Amino acid sequence: MEIRQLGPAADLEVEVDLTRRAFGPVTEAGRADRLADAREAAAGGRYLAAFDGPQPVAVAMFHDMRQWWHGRAVRMAGVGGVKVAPEQRGRGIGRALMTELLRVIADRGYPLSVLYPATAPLYRSLGWELGGGLYRAVIAARSLASLLPADGPAQPLQDPPGLRRAGPGDAGEVIGIIGAVHESARHCGPATYDAATVRRRWLSDENLFCYLAADGFLAYGWHEGHDEMSVRVALAGSAETTRALWSTVGSHAPLARQVRAVVGPDDPVAWLTREPDVRLVSRWSWMMRVVDAPAAIAARGFPAAAGLAVGLRIDDAQLPANAGHWTLEVSGGKGELTRAAPQVPPGAPARLGARGFAALYAGVPMATLRRAGLAAGGGPSADEALDTAFAGQAFLLDSF
Ligand SMILES: CC(C)(COP(=O)(O)OP(=O)(O)OC[C@H]1O[C@@H](n2cnc3c(N)ncnc32)[C@H](O)[C@@H]1OP(=O)(O)O)[C@@H](O)C(=O)NCCC(=O)NCCS
Repeated sequence: MEIRQLGPAADLEVEVDLTRRAFGPVTEAGRADRLADAREAAAGGRYLAAFDGPQPVAVAMFHDMRQWWHGRAVRMAGVGGVKVAPEQRGRGIGRALMTELLRVIADRGYPLSVLYPATAPLYRSLGWELGGGLYRAVIAARSLASLLPADGPAQPLQDPPGLRRAGPGDAGEVIGIIGAVHESARHCGPATYDAATVRRRWLSDENLFCYLAADGFLAYGWHEGHDEMSVRVALAGSAETTRALWSTVGSHAPLARQVRAVVGPDDPVAWLTREPDVRLVSRWSWMMRVVDAPAAIAARGFPAAAGLAVGLRIDDAQLPANAGHWTLEVSGGKGELTRAAPQVPPGAPARLGARGFAALYAGVPMATLRRAGLAAGGGPSADEALDTAFAGQAFLLDSF
């Protein structure tokens, strides 16, 4: 078996064929999306195939993304479309393909990688671990049609901001505004695509209604019919714009009965409805991998109030450059991971494998990691300092 990259000139029908066999029927629109994703990945050298003879029997790709961690963007490889032909499964092809994909991701200098697992053991064995969720809410449309006024005269709302329809030419502005919202809200987890993908997935889709404000972006449409709306993105930097975006969605009541929305777990919309009408109905877990530990720490943000210097010992069989004794220092909103001499008890460092370190990075508390068998060593004061530094309920607003 041979694993190699497919270029944009390759016959990418294999993507559709394997998708159909792995995940079920593919619509015409889904087919076009799949091929476009595969073509873009192939053009960027991000599409791998395994061959057993002349035909590919397995493929996997990654998207070139930016992921916000405490308000700072970190380059992230969003792995998707991992599939092996059914008759070839269970022979080690999936593992070989993912091992090579991880090598390519590391070679390209991505500090982080994220994926949505259909099955976790394969990814866990290569160092990915559950990190955060994609949350879906259901909201009665009438609740959005009449939002609560701002609380108290101390902070009167400004005039409603102007919203304008956004089109394919606005991709750069959309990415900039979304990034500014994630930065100012100090979000952990959300990611953005490149301009071509934003243009294709959102701004060129005539069934997705996209709006821009100076500090906000809304993308929504009808949900499989005429009595529900579906919000793909509603992000704003101010109270006025938050209200304007959700009111626009609410204007579809009563024709639309309910609104389905992809939101963060603490989305402000839940504090804007008169009754507790925003129900989080699902959480789709994603896994992350810290590919380059020092770079991942240096690139992300940390709470300005967090200050620590703790010893860590990381075990990482797949990416040995991450392994060994480190000192993690955090101060002034920045972090640094530097090589340290091995310590001995009682100052024994907290000990984490690649999976535990990925989960810690994503904000999973040390107490959880210890009970899950993903952390050992160290002690309570280091745990508390680590929890303070990495705190955050990580969420993504996109699947891939
Ligand atoms: C998941 C998939 C990619 C694995 O490929 P594969 O070639 O069968 O996997 P391998 O033979 O390399 O096995 C790798 C490990 O994953 C485990 N594994 C494979 N398929 C599994 C499944 N369906 N459920 C649970 N574990 C699975 C194997 O047990 C093995 O672990 P082990 O070495 O500890 O026994 C393949 O089964 C597939 O294409 N499935 C359908 C599509 C899909 O679910 N893709 C994943 C999207 S995130």
